[in-house]
Amino acid sequence: MSTWAVCNQKGGVGKTTTAISIASLLAEKGRKTLLIDLDPHASASVYLVGREDDANAGVMRWFSAELDGSAASLPAAAFAAACEETKQPDLSLARATPALAALERRAAGREGFGRVLTTAIARLGARFDDVIIDCPPTLGLLMINALAAAQQVLIPVQTEHLALEGLARMSRTLEMVERSQRRAIPRIVIPTLFDRRTRASLLALERLREEYASVLWPEPVPIDTRLRDAARAGLPPPLYDPAGRAVGVYRRLVDRLIGAAEAGATEAAPQPTADRYGIVAAGSPAAASTRCSLAAAGARS
Ligand SMILES: Nc1ncnc2c1ncn2[C@@H]1O[C@H](COP(=O)(O)OP(=O)(O)OP(=O)(O)O)[C@@H](O)[C@H]1O
Ligand SMILES: [Mg+2]
Repeated sequence: MSTWAVCNQKGGVGKTTTAISIASLLAEKGRKTLLIDLDPHASASVYLVGREDDANAGVMRWFSAELDGSAASLPAAAFAAACEETKQPDLSLARATPALAALERRAAGREGFGRVLTTAIARLGARFDDVIIDCPPTLGLLMINALAAAQQVLIPVQTEHLALEGLARMSRTLEMVERSQRRAIPRIVIPTLFDRRTRASLLALERLREEYASVLWPEPVPIDTRLRDAARAGLPPPLYDPAGRAVGVYRRLVDRLIGAAEAGATEAAPQPTADRYGIVAAGSPAAASTRCSLAAAGARS
């Protein structure tokens, strides 16, 4: 099973759109895919399956079991009960509920809450081939759970100046988690909401190419109004607009992710990287902050 977390502490950069698109494309290939919505705002859940009154539904079940001490004795089927089907075959959802927002306070001072998601995913066993986690735009218990569970992190970054500052913050967070977990967390930075007619987008992309060359997905996801239409229709973008421009970029990314996962490359050792998008010298600031790169995700020249 491969697990990817889609995260960025900056809001509105395309995390949920990216998570749903990638999860849908994986499912389209017949891979049993679980999308875990970790954002208390539940955007991905409302998008895919609508609202739910039970505050304890979905992901909250796993955290509640940890809170009331029953997690260790729960059978695997109880973990699986948090997952529901969506309109798309092979795509399941572990939904978020607003109750997740209070988790930080409820879990305060208690140990073991950083790995609730890791345990839940392990207990799901072979039910899924792939897991995609849609993170909230805040650094807290939920994001820490996602980063602990993920083999690889996907970071959507809006191609505008302020978003690049957010990326630097996210990179520092990842380094902190890497140190505490004593492992490298490979990442791919995905430029999003790209508008080639604007100077701001072009400059931001240029800076990304300079500073994050080794981990940058080379094709920016363009602004594509069909993505918003898809959200309104409650359909994953690949179902709503299979030939769309943005969907095309996500499709090529998914092919690469699958190729890398199958080659076991996401577990490759950290290394200074050279790929066809730019060479990052070992020891450079970019190399230090972007260990485990596209090369680890299977990029080839
Ligand atoms: N490539 C795109 N083209 C056009 N609109 C897009 C694109 N990507 C995302 N959007 C739209 O931008 C808005 C924000 O996207 P999204 O919800 O995916 O961001 P997010 O990072 O998950 O936000 P939050 O931090 O609030 O969770 C949504 O309305 C979405 O439909
Ligand atoms: Mg979101």
